[in-house]
This record gives sequence, C-alpha cells and structure tokens, in this order.
Amino acid sequence: MPATCVIGLQWGDEAKGKIVDLLTAQNEIVVRYQGGANAGHTVVFDGKKYKLSLIPSGIFRPEVQSVIANGVIVDPESILGEIDRLREAGVEIEKNLMLSSRAHVIFPWHKEEDRLMNDAGVRSEAIGTTMRGIGPCYRDKVGRSTAVRVGDMYRADFPEKIRKIVELKNRALPGMARDDEVKATVKKFDAEEIIAQYSNYAERLKPFVADVVDYLLDAVDADKKILLEGAQGALLDVDYGTFPYVTSSNSSGVGVTAGSGLPATFIKRVVGIIKAYSTRVGGGPFPTELDDEVGQRIRDRGNEYGTVTKRPRRCGWFDAVAVRYTSRLSGATELSLMLLDVLSGFETINVCVAYELDGKRIESFPADVDDLARAKPIYESLPGWAEEIDQISKYDDLPENAKKYVARLEEILGRPISIVSVGPGREQTIVR
Ligand code: GDP
Ligand code: IMO
Ligand code: MG
Repeated sequence: MPATCVIGLQWGDEAKGKIVDLLTAQNEIVVRYQGGANAGHTVVFDGKKYKLSLIPSGIFRPEVQSVIANGVIVDPESILGEIDRLREAGVEIEKNLMLSSRAHVIFPWHKEEDRLMNDAGVRSEAIGTTMRGIGPCYRDKVGRSTAVRVGDMYRADFPEKIRKIVELKNRALPGMARDDEVKATVKKFDAEEIIAQYSNYAERLKPFVADVVDYLLDAVDADKKILLEGAQGALLDVDYGTFPYVTSSNSSGVGVTAGSGLPATFIKRVVGIIKAYSTRVGGGPFPTELDDEVGQRIRDRGNEYGTVTKRPRRCGWFDAVAVRYTSRLSGATELSLMLLDVLSGFETINVCVAYELDGKRIESFPADVDDLARAKPIYESLPGWAEEIDQISKYDDLPENAKKYVARLEEILGRPISIVSVGPGREQTIVR
C-alpha cells in the first residue's frame, strides 16, 4: 500500500493539522518526520480545539499508530506537556505513540542560541524564528560533536557527555552576543541540573522510545497504510524556500524520505495543502502581502494569529507563482484548498499569476531572496461572492464565483483540488 504525504505549499499554517486528522481515518500509521515544536497544528472536532506541536495530528484516532520519526527534533519538556494536556482532555496516549531513538534532542542552550542569533544583526531583517531552538539544534545535528539523540539519554555515558557539552556551550554562547549589553544577559548552564532534569524526562519518555526506522520498514513490507505529516511549508524549506528566511529542515516534499527513512518509491500520493490566500509569520519577502485594511480583514476573518507564538500573521493574496513552484517541487498529486470561507464578502479576489522583476515579466519563482523582495505581483482579478459558505457541505451548493475561483486555481496550478475546506471543524470539509 503506497504512502500518502501531506505537505504545506506556502509559508506554513495552511491547516495541515485538519487534513492530517481527516486522512488519518483511512490510514494505519501517521508519521511526523521533520521540524519540531516550531510547528503548531490545530485539530477541531466535537466543538473542541486541540493544538499539537510535536505529536502527530492523527493522535485522536487511538487505533492508528502515531510516530515521531528521526527527522524531528524533540523538546522533551514540550512533548511531555503535550502528552499531559492530551491525557487530561481524555485522549488515549499509550501504545499508540512512538518516538524515534534517532531523533535529536533540544536543550536550553539551543533556545538561548536561537535568541542570540536572531538578534545578531547580520542581516537587516531578523529571521524572526519561533525561539524554540530549532536552528541551533539542527546545526548541532549536522555538526555532530555536541548533538544528543533521544537514544543517547539512556546510555551510561550521558552525564559525562552533558558535562562536556555544557562546558563548551557556556564558553561559546557569550561569543555569539552581538554586543556587551546582550553578552551580559547570556544564560549560564549547570551540567548537574540539566543531567537531573533530562534524566527525568528520559524516564518519562521511555515507554514511547523505539527504533522507528525498523518499525516503518516492517510496515512497508506488511503493506500498511502510512500517512506522513509535514510541518511548516515548502517556502520555508532550508534548501528550496526563501533562504535565509526559512526554517532549518526540508519542509517541502523532499524532506519526507530523509526524515522518515521511507523509500521514495513508496510515496505515491502527495496532498498539497494551500490556503485560499497567503500568510507568513516572521521575516522575509512576501510579494503579495497586503499591508492595508484588506490584509487586516483577512487576518480578522481567518483569525490569523500564530498557534505557537501568537504573533499576528502577515496576510496577502494567493501567490500562484510560488505555489506552482512548490507543488511541482513537492510532487503534489492533488491539492486541498483551505479557509475558503475567509474570502466571503470580498468584491474582487486577486491571484498573483506572475511577477514583474526589474521591468520584466517572470513566471518562475526567484532563487534569490533579494530578487523576490523586488518582485512585484501581477494580479488576475476574479469576482468575489457575498454569501457565507461555512455551512455548505456539497460542492455544487457553493456560490458560482467560489466555484470559479477553485476552477481557476486548478487551471493555473495544473492539479486537481480534491478537498475544499470551509471552516475549522471536521464536518466543514467538502470532499469532491
Ligand atoms: P497548520 O500549522 O498547517 O496545521 O495550521 P494552523 O493550525 O497553524 O492554522 C490553521 C488555522 O485555521 C487553525 O486555527 C484551524 O483551526 C483553522 N482552520 C482550518 N481549516 C479552516 C477553514 O477551512 N476555515 C477556517 N475559517 N479556519 C480553518
Ligand atoms: P506549522 O507546522 C508558520 C517560521 C518562523 C520563522 C521561520 C524560522 O504550524 O505550519 P524556526 O523557529 O523554525 O527557526 O523559524 O519559520 N515558522 C513557521 N511559520 N508555521 C510554522 O509551522 C512555522 N514553523 C516555523 O515564523 O519565520
Ligand atoms: Mg501552524
């Protein structure tokens, strides 16, 4: 049985969580394979809203195995908090959650380093990270010497390793401060305190830790139905996104195999998740951004405030140049169009179909972020619709202009839109 993956095709927050929850019903295993607690995925059902950061959005179906694979970086405090909150809400988490022993672990120095580097002033505009220690932890992973994997926490040499790392970090971190004033604020870490704290976390996480690669490869052999849940969005991919205003993992389709160990030939269905407009949190160019009352209206109607950091999300029109690029890059076989209800009441709706760059029309997505920053959107205007659509359950019942919008996006993007979402709830989903 080939695997399905769910990939955000914009700058994150495309409502991947809702679709993963939905598609979990047709699968036996759901896997998170990259990112960390920078992700905030929302699932709404029975009038209740659940926010997930590290735990797969499939966790609400206890018969399905939820797996956190090696490409994810794990903040133990964050995941244990999440487990506690879910248990309190009556969600079953026992044998149905699995954590890879190969996943890397976030420590407090990663968050401190995140703070210092975001403030380093190397670029005029800060990346504006979520401050969850994501970049520094991935940097340690690639650098190897000071990295700790989940499995390392159970080894006899763990305390010794932590003592050495703490010594190094305590020496290195002050050197990352942009000036003496910031330097004076740099935290100092106590190895024995960290050892005690993380040994406690390790004990509590122990029932979930497993060799996930072995488990997943067996699942492939047994023809199990596997769903892969991407975090962030393809435009935040460290290689293919708007570098350096990206996250530190491969959040486009290319990250699936590296992060999960599943062979590429096994992934046959790629569901690209798109919002009916665009949003972005943090720094970096955003050609269709609306810094006016239209943008504010989208923010209000879409409740566009960060799940993790509560920051107001930057809002703008749908950028078909960017999404055509990311859907090709991620090999999207179909698309899910989310938050279409937010666009009710706009007289006209714009779609960016090309950019003007230095006086020339271009239809490809610039590789260089400074070019993207100069790119001006060329819009195609479509007529809007006045009616609220959040109660509509049949595609044919949508207003004509809403259907025309969907059809036009399919045409520009060259892919079928198989799901249209008109509200946060499970039932507010039109499957075509
Ligand atoms: P994710 O990170 O991609 O999982 O997305 P987030 O959870 O960060 O943000 C999506 C937000 O939109 C959440 O608050 C969802 O509850 C909400 N949502 C999902 N689908 C719809 C929809 O079709 N309409 C509206 N109005 N809200 C939606
Ligand atoms: P989900 O999975 C939206 C953004 C941050 C910042 C940049 C780098 O909910 O879609 P990081 O902390 O990863 O080093 O921050 O990436 N970012 C997200 N934006 N949704 C997310 O996740 C994001 N995860 C990171 O705002 O611009
Ligand atoms: Mg989110």
